Amino acid sequence: MTGLITVDTEKRLVLVSGRAHPELADDVAAQLGIQLVPTSAYDFANGEIYTRFGESVRGSDAFVLQSHASPINKWIMEHLLMVDALRRASVKTITVVAPFLGYARQDKKHRGREPISARLVCDLFATAGADRIVSVDLHTSQIQGFFSGPVDHLWAQPILVEYVRTRVDVANTTVVSPDAGRIRVAEQWAAKLGGGPLAFVHKTRDMRSPNKAVANRVVGDVEGRTCVLVDDMIDTGGTIVEAVRVLLAAGAKDVIVVATHGVLSDPATERLAGCGAREVVITDTLPIPDEHRFDSLTVLSIAPTLARAIREVFDDGSVTSLFDGNA
Ligand code: R5P
Repeated sequence: MTGLITVDTEKRLVLVSGRAHPELADDVAAQLGIQLVPTSAYDFANGEIYTRFGESVRGSDAFVLQSHASPINKWIMEHLLMVDALRRASVKTITVVAPFLGYARQDKKHRGREPISARLVCDLFATAGADRIVSVDLHTSQIQGFFSGPVDHLWAQPILVEYVRTRVDVANTTVVSPDAGRIRVAEQWAAKLGGGPLAFVHKTRDMRSPNKAVANRVVGDVEGRTCVLVDDMIDTGGTIVEAVRVLLAAGAKDVIVVATHGVLSDPATERLAGCGAREVVITDTLPIPDEHRFDSLTVLSIAPTLARAIREVFDDGSVTSLFDGNA
């Protein structure tokens, strides 16, 4: 008799998903070669959400996937409730997988008496019990500092660049940032596309009117060239269609629009379909319903990127290695 009870335990990865983007959850599970944990979720008559996992998750490393699609506040709340349920069900670790993290673009005060909403969202996940956050193309990298645990900031760039390279003559391509603030991202794109020139659109915004941007002029060499216009998200499409307009007016040969997150709030679909861009390329970090699709829209799958990152986190491997050591 030693007075000790010893056990050999195996690590166990479980993947759970909310209701916001079930297709993506299924794709990620398929890439990982696992089944999603059966989960029930429904709304009470007054809008409260109920959720429960259908099997034990005790002792597991849980990854809880929800993309913050519209209605965004509902899906963030469901995400938080799932994290709380996992913590109370005695999981070992909780990783929040938010391919599109809601409120990320509200990451600073532009004027007095505004909230820093992105920080609050991160605080809410920490309070609910999250140990780690995995997300794709946050509005700015500094948001990683809003959560005191690890944040794995994944990039959609490798899959987007791989595709765009097949659609352009890189020798006659200019990478364009839709505003001066995203020049660094455009620089990385230009390097990946063979080191062509950069341009940016000088954009102004009225801080009192959300979703209203005015593109004034383009700075850089675009005449006669294919422009690859890169943004993190397309919400109403205002920023992008204004940028396409000034690029074509400045003599661009054609324009390919690229963005990670297709929020596509009305009237984005209509605007994008008629803006004159040759193609609009996004990923499926958010669900893209049929009514938001149009002929020149290409949607690339983010599931392989998410699955590989989840696997690296679970195996104590390297997420950075998925991005040439740069992420
Ligand atoms: C702004 O800083 C973002 O990067 C996007 O350009 C913007 O949020 C897109 O919004 P919308 O499509 O409504 O112009």
